[in-house]
Amino acid sequence: MKVLFCASECYPFMKVGGLGDVIYSLPKSLVREGVECSVIIPLYKKIRQEHPDLEVVDEFYISLGYRHQYVGLLRKRLGDIDYYFIDNEQYFGRDTAYGHFDDGERFTFFSKAIIETIARHFRHYDILHAHDWQTAMTAPLLREYQIPLKSVFTIHNLRFQGIFQFSMVFDMLGLPPYYASEDKMAFYGNANYLKAGIVFADKVTTVSPTYLEEIKNEYYGEGLDGLIRQYEWKMQGILNGIDYETYNPMKDKYLSFDYNAKNVSGKYNNKIAFQKEMQLPQNNNIPIVGMVSRLTDQKGLDLINNVLDEILQMDLQLIILGTGSAMYEDNFRAHEYSHHDKMRAIIKYDDSFASKIYAASDIYLMPSQFEPCGLSQMIAMRYGSLPLVRETGGLNDSVRPYNQFTGEGTGFTFSTYNAHDMLFTLQKAVGLYYDNKDAFNKLIEHAMAEDFSWTSSSKQYIQMYESIL
Ligand code: GLC
Repeated sequence: MKVLFCASECYPFMKVGGLGDVIYSLPKSLVREGVECSVIIPLYKKIRQEHPDLEVVDEFYISLGYRHQYVGLLRKRLGDIDYYFIDNEQYFGRDTAYGHFDDGERFTFFSKAIIETIARHFRHYDILHAHDWQTAMTAPLLREYQIPLKSVFTIHNLRFQGIFQFSMVFDMLGLPPYYASEDKMAFYGNANYLKAGIVFADKVTTVSPTYLEEIKNEYYGEGLDGLIRQYEWKMQGILNGIDYETYNPMKDKYLSFDYNAKNVSGKYNNKIAFQKEMQLPQNNNIPIVGMVSRLTDQKGLDLINNVLDEILQMDLQLIILGTGSAMYEDNFRAHEYSHHDKMRAIIKYDDSFASKIYAASDIYLMPSQFEPCGLSQMIAMRYGSLPLVRETGGLNDSVRPYNQFTGEGTGFTFSTYNAHDMLFTLQKAVGLYYDNKDAFNKLIEHAMAEDFSWTSSSKQYIQMYESIL
């Protein structure tokens, strides 16, 4: 079986969020199961700078409305996978992947360039697997051009749909009016790319089973819950995994002390080292609460803002890493200033600090408002930090709540989106840390013993691919 992945980001070339991790680690795992995979992403400026050895495979022009646009197709092999890059200086020769005024045009171009690339080079492939709105239009385009690959579309985040005025994008797409109706890609009079992906793909997946159930309802449905219910028959939720080679406390280049479930002492050496680096009191008997996150509403930061003073009254150390809304960045900086003996806010995106926080923390805070899957709670568990999460999406599918009667569990959970529910749960977790260290350590053992590698999920993807071939 041959599968072509297309997406707007892929680690290590370009990564903005979890999508970039998945586009790297899922194909790797599929290849191990005997599937042939190639990946296609835009050639962003940084990729060209960091990889001068890209090989030019093809050059051609595609039509975009009344204009013709240049497409360069470049390639680089990493491991057993060929990575292809779509080059167009005007659209992708920029520092950042998203958030440009012409994103609609850029990713319309990208999707059409993918289709032409398939026609020229990948006709012998079985499946085109597209991800999120940036590549969703490949599904209707494949159908319109009668290219015989099956299409799979994965939703990583329903909040971002790619909604544009028809007058801005429809001519560029070059699709007949049939596609513009309300039961196809129109959404309150505009073009909705993600909607088109759902309507036209042969299979649609979400990145966790719980998220699929949630988005059938208005609260999580982002205006598309009716559509999701209509197309339920071709939808499936498959939980993401994490790359077990990258996220491995035995081999993490950013950590001074290696450790694993059999020998966790290294974790506590890392903790002391990190407290020292952060100039926090060095003490192995105080819990560190860690957080590595985009600082956006999705991640539940308003809950933290609401009770941050109460959190900092507890006997703990709080370390937050990430960037995002100025409101959250500023509030965290202000609290670091007023609680200098117990809080650090590292306002940047930095892999080495991320590893150190996973390793040094005892509790990992992730109270998301919604979470299609979430990867960091899984990384935290692998590093022996107990996630404290809200029961939503992939958090609900990956963290088993502590049961005080049986001692079972891999973390702490609460369900209602409410700051004090989160606070009480954190107080309970900290209470357990101080009052019953044996029980707390048992949870760490359970968490580290869980299997979040891609092995089982990639098998589910293969079965799903087979079901449409
Ligand atoms: C998006 C979602 C996140 C998910 C990731 C990878 O970033 O917000 O929950 O883990 O995609 O699928």
